[in-house]
Formats: sequence, C-alpha cells, structure tokens
Amino acid sequence: MNVIRFSDLCAQGKVQGQRVFIRADLNVPQDDQGHITEDTRIRASLPCIREALTAGAAVMVTSHLGRPTEGTLRPEDSLQPVAQRLSELLGQPVSLVRDWVQGVQVAPGQVVLLENCRVNPGEKKNQEALSRQMASLCDIYVNDAFGTAHRAEATTYGIAQFAPIACAGPLLAAEIDAITRALAAPRRPLAAIVAGSKVSTKLTILESLASKVDQLIVGGGIANTFLLAAGMPIGKSLAEPDLVDQARAVIQAMKARGAEVPIPTDVVVAKTFAADAPATIKAAQDVAEDDLILDIGPETAQRLATQLRAAGTIVWNGPVGVFEFDAFAKGTEVVARAIAESDGFSIAGGGDTLAAIARFGIESKIGYISTGGGAFLEVLEGKTLPALEILTKRATG
Ligand code: 3PG
Repeated sequence: MNVIRFSDLCAQGKVQGQRVFIRADLNVPQDDQGHITEDTRIRASLPCIREALTAGAAVMVTSHLGRPTEGTLRPEDSLQPVAQRLSELLGQPVSLVRDWVQGVQVAPGQVVLLENCRVNPGEKKNQEALSRQMASLCDIYVNDAFGTAHRAEATTYGIAQFAPIACAGPLLAAEIDAITRALAAPRRPLAAIVAGSKVSTKLTILESLASKVDQLIVGGGIANTFLLAAGMPIGKSLAEPDLVDQARAVIQAMKARGAEVPIPTDVVVAKTFAADAPATIKAAQDVAEDDLILDIGPETAQRLATQLRAAGTIVWNGPVGVFEFDAFAKGTEVVARAIAESDGFSIAGGGDTLAAIARFGIESKIGYISTGGGAFLEVLEGKTLPALEILTKRATG
C-alpha cells in the first residue's frame, strides 16, 4: 500500500505541535435513549488518537453518525454520546465542537470532537469549497475511517486533496493490509459466508467471490433467493424472485470450478416474524405456503460446521438466521462456533456479524475483526476504495 502512514510521521517527529485532523468512523449503534450499544469502532479509533497525542499534536477528530440531512442537526444526529465515551476511554476531557468548519480552537495535548460531519452542507457531494475550508484547519490530515473509506465525501476524499499532508491512520492501514493479505494467497479451502436480507445489495460480492472461493455459504434472505433458484419452496419468506437468474448464475459459476454453494437441506420456520413465534424444524422441501424461514436447520448447520472447521481461510459477513431471536439463533451459533474452532485464518466484518461474535463470546477466536461493513465488502471484491486512492495519489506526488 503506497500511502504515507501517520505512524511513520509520528516516529519521524513531524507531528510535534501540529494541528492534526483525524477522520474516524465513530458511527456506532445506539438504543432509543441514545446509549451506545456497541463501541468497537470507538475503541478501534483510540490508537490513532493516542499516537497523535503522544507525538505532541493538537487533535481534532470527526466522524459521521447515521445518515442525517445536511444543514440540520437533530438531537439523535449528535456525537455527544460518542464524545463522552471517547473521553472515558482516553481518560481525558473530549469536548464536542458544534460549528467547527470556520475554525477550531485546540492546543497540543488536547482532543476535540467535531460534530457529525455529515450535517455540513456539501459533505456527501464532496464539495470542493467545503473540502478546502476543512483542509485549512489542519497541518496533517489523517484518514483512519476504514468503515467509510468506500465513500468519496468531503471528509474522506476532498480534504485529503487539499490538506498540506494527507496520510493513513493505523486502523485504515491495518484493515486494508489484513483483508488483502487474507485473500492474496489464501490457505485452501477458502470458505466465504455471505448472509443478509437481500441478494441485490450483495450481488457484486457474490459474483466476485464465486470466482475465488471453494465454498460460498449463503444465509438469511439471500439464502431464500438461492433456495428459489434451486427449485425449493420458501413460503412467504423474504426473497427477491427477480434475482433468481443471477443466483442460478452464481451456483453455475461455482459448479463449473468444482466449487459449491451449499443450499440448506433443512430450515427453521415460524408463522410470524416474532421472538416468541413457535419454531419448527422442517426439511427444506417441506416448507409450507404460510411459513417464514428464519434460520438454517440443525442438519444444514452441522454440515456447514464440518466444512468450516476444515477450511484454511474463512471470510464471514452476515449471520445465517435471525439470531436476535433465541429460537432462531442456533444456526448462527453453530456456524460461529465452528469458525472459532477452525484452525484456518478467519476474517469477519459487518455490524450484524460483530453483534453475533459478541453474543457468542468468540472475539478472541476470530483471526481478524474488521470495523467495516460496506467498505469490508468492497475490499473483498478487490475494489480500490476512494479514500485510499486519494491517499495513494498524495503519497506519489
Ligand atoms: C457503516 O456503518 O458501514 C459506515 O459507517 C458507513 O456508513 P454509510 O453507509 O452511512 O456511509
């Protein structure tokens, strides 16, 4: 990766007394009361901030939170809970600056959190005037927001064009290194799990993985569309019938390479989508018209577990069932534990996947946990992320 690394600038003493602007991804889930329910991304952003402080910088950090409308800051769009958590984790005050684009007061040794950058008009369209103005706030721009690196926005792209120095933070660099290394020369068999509600949002990754992996395990609504493609009944389950041809093409592409898309042979169904809905295990061909498939069945889970335990490399994105409901969590649990037990290198990413890893307490048994969702998928696909593309340009002249 041909980029300037922030850690190198720190080691060379080039950060002392400088104004450092860190674009982090602090987009964390919150409950209805605004309490942070999962803080992996905040913790993953700490090394960069600590590094900047230790090197003697005046530190500005910003992030987006959700997808607010530009120009208005609703209470739920505010990074205030993040500022508080960041302050607790860093062990020093972190004040939140609301209107910051025109100027920021911060001294060496201090950290300020700049309010949700996506409320600034021009952010999402990567507007040049906004980008130039933000670049004028700093001496060094650091992109450490791996989770947002697939977006070309003013804080992820434009500012990097105009800041005096633009470099990659430790998290961004580590994520790209880990994912590309896992896929460059993977130990075989290489298994991928791609699960989620819709084939349409993950079609390009499915197509791309179909030419690389030995087993392509599909789950959730995606598996339902593949069941349809295999001629199986799915009742009233979530699926995209208009993408059956594409699913069939993925199955054929895998078959042609001697690889496999393991289609569930048994499933767990319910009549309604509810935590307390009675769960019934059925053979896949016996799914009734009024059934909803909410998990893979035990026979399928065991078969997948055997394959995963024997895999040399595992890429995991998405739970295979509605694991938030206890009655439909077993398939995801069996798969998760098999990944944890596998001697192969495993790499996992995506918000739901992180939640499943936390629920089953297997964090320490996963080779690498990515903070990215969409960005994780795009790196897996082999795409160059815009945020990285501009940092590479800046490093090479
Ligand atoms: C994510 O949650 O995947 C990142 O923070 C990016 O968010 P976005 O899809 O709203 O750009």
